Amino acid sequence: MLNQVREDIRSVFHRDPAARNTLEVLLNYPGLHAVLFHRLANGLWTRNFKQLARLLSTFSRWLTGIEIHPGAKIGRRFFIDHGMGVVIGETAEIGDDVTLYHGVTLGGTSWSKGKRHPTLEDGVVVGAGAKVLGPFTVHKNAKIGSNSVVTKEVPEGATVVGIPGRVINHPLTEKEKTRQEMAEKIGFQAYGVSNDMPDPVAEAIHLLLDHMHAVDNKLDRVCTNLKKQGIQGCDEKLPELNNEDFEPVNAGGTD
Ligand SMILES: CC(C)(COP(=O)(O)OP(=O)(O)OC[C@H]1O[C@@H](n2cnc3c(N)ncnc32)[C@H](O)[C@@H]1OP(=O)(O)O)[C@@H](O)C(=O)NCCC(=O)NCCS
Repeated sequence: MLNQVREDIRSVFHRDPAARNTLEVLLNYPGLHAVLFHRLANGLWTRNFKQLARLLSTFSRWLTGIEIHPGAKIGRRFFIDHGMGVVIGETAEIGDDVTLYHGVTLGGTSWSKGKRHPTLEDGVVVGAGAKVLGPFTVHKNAKIGSNSVVTKEVPEGATVVGIPGRVINHPLTEKEKTRQEMAEKIGFQAYGVSNDMPDPVAEAIHLLLDHMHAVDNKLDRVCTNLKKQGIQGCDEKLPELNNEDFEPVNAGGTD
């Protein structure tokens, strides 16, 4: 527990250049006070002292302007800068090294019980005033721009801005890189469609590309083994596919 508190204090120095010394941080950072109160309230909540936990969280809200439900799961080195107006719901889950600024809501969009608040994975940063609403995941190291409203899953490392939130950068995952290589090979503009505009035809082609990639790999392995056994016939190159191969047969025709 003490180690966790030390880490929480250190995380302020790492993420706020204005922090000068430990005493200043301990006395002047409501975000830190709220996190420390939450660690206590969550301990009470999980030990079934629910009423006491709620009381402590309400006291913390009165003192800091930050409302964290005692049931929310919060990882290590969590930092809330400035803090006023932050709301974190009961079923929110927050990984390690996450940063929130003032006015952030990690809220729900339904009144039904069960998981209804977002999960923020390690290293996520949520800008001032952003609203992240619903039981989806914001994956590792994603950034959410100030005043955005996000209601859908955010990919790892992506930056989301605006209302509704849209991804402005989307670093490719290994699987996506492979797809892109395959797509380039056959001259298909696989990434012409953005994440905000899911297209069933593009998705079907993506699946075909994944399958072709698997078949390619398998064929490579078969050929290597055949060569090892002195069997020839794998040196012949497959014909390249070009953009023109995908143009409609009658395009520009007079029929
Ligand atoms: C979203 C954010 C992380 C992006 O930072 P970045 O990766 O450096 O991106 P850039 O600043 O280069 O901006 C990229 C584009 O997104 C736009 N953009 C950036 N933040 C935006 C926001 N919050 N809302 C809408 N558009 C935004 C920029 O205008 C730019 O658009 P352009 O390409 O048309 O010129 C950052 O702008 C942000 O909002 N951080 C939160 C900081 C915060 O809340 N601080 C509070 C301190 S008290």
